[in-house]
Amino acid sequence: MRWSDRRILITGASGGIGRELVTLLAQRGARLLIVGRNASVMKELTALEPERIRALSADLTTREDRRRVLEAADDVRIDMLINAAGVNHFGLFDEQSPAAISSMVDLNVTATLLLTQALLPRLLHENSAWIVNLGSAFGAIGHPGYTAYCTTKFALRGFSQALRRELADTPVHVLHISPRATRTGMNSDRANALNTAQGNHVDEPARVAASVIRGIETRARDRQLGWPECLLVRLNGILPGIVDRALKKRLPTIQQHARRPSPSS
Ligand SMILES: NC(=O)c1ccc[n+]([C@@H]2O[C@H](COP(=O)([O-])OP(=O)(O)OC[C@H]3O[C@@H](n4cnc5c(N)ncnc54)[C@H](OP(=O)(O)O)[C@@H]3O)[C@@H](O)[C@H]2O)c1
Repeated sequence: MRWSDRRILITGASGGIGRELVTLLAQRGARLLIVGRNASVMKELTALEPERIRALSADLTTREDRRRVLEAADDVRIDMLINAAGVNHFGLFDEQSPAAISSMVDLNVTATLLLTQALLPRLLHENSAWIVNLGSAFGAIGHPGYTAYCTTKFALRGFSQALRRELADTPVHVLHISPRATRTGMNSDRANALNTAQGNHVDEPARVAASVIRGIETRARDRQLGWPECLLVRLNGILPGIVDRALKKRLPTIQQHARRPSPSS
C-alpha cells in the first residue's frame, strides 16, 4: 500500500479513533477528506497538513450534508472510504428514549449505508479502492445495556460481509474491523464504570487506529481486535449458551450501571 497515492474520506474524523486515524494517515502522506461535526477539532486536524487535509463539517444523518460530502469526495477523487462515525447510548433498552434509539440507527446504519452507496460509483471507477467499516465487538456479541447499539453493529457486520461478496469481482475491497472498548468520548461515565467493574480491557484510540491501518496493509477482511474478545466472539458464534450463562451471572452488575439513575439519587 503506497499511502502517499491514497485519497481517503474519513467520517467520524473528529472522534477519538477518527482523530488518531487522521494523524497516522497524514504522517504516511495520504491526502485526506475529513468529515465530522465539531468544527474546532476539524480545524486543529487540518493544521497538521494543510496542503493534504481538507475538512468538511457535516451531519451525515441529513441528505443535504451527505450530498455535500459526495461533491467534496468527487473533487478529491477519493479511493478509500473509512466509515468511523458512530453513536452509542448505553442504557437499558426499556428506558431508552425513542430519540436515542433512532439516533443510533440513523447514523450507524442508515447514513453509513446511504453514504457508502452514493460513493460506490466513484470507488468502482478506481483500479484499487477500499471501504473500511468500523464495527464493534458488540456487532458479534449481544450485550445487555447495549441492545440498540448491538443491533446497529450487527447490521454493519452483515452489510460489510454482503457488500464484500457483492463486490468480489470488482477492485473494491471491504474491510470490517471491530474494536473492543476504547477510551474515547463515546463511552459515558456509567459505561466506563461498568468496564471497570467487569475488568474489561479498554484500548487507547491510537492503538485501534494503528490496527485499522495494519488491517488495510495486510488486506484483512473481517478483524476482531483484542484478546479475549476474539475468543468470545467465536465462542458466541458456536456455543452461545455459554455466553448467555456468563452474562446472566453478570446481569445484576450490568443492570446496576445501565439503569437510568432515579432523580432522587
Ligand atoms: N469507543 C469505543 O469503545 C468503541 C468500541 C468499538 C467500536 N467503536 C466504533 O468506532 C467508531 C469511532 O468511535 P469513537 O470511539 O471514536 O467515537 P467518538 O469519539 O464518540 O466519535 C464519534 C464520531 O462520530 C461523529 N458523529 C456523531 N454523530 C454524527 C453525525 N450525525 N454526523 C456526522 N458525524 C457524526 C462525531 O462527530 P462530532 O464529534 O464532530 O460530533 C465523531 O467524529 C464508531 O463507529 C464506534 O461505534 C468504538
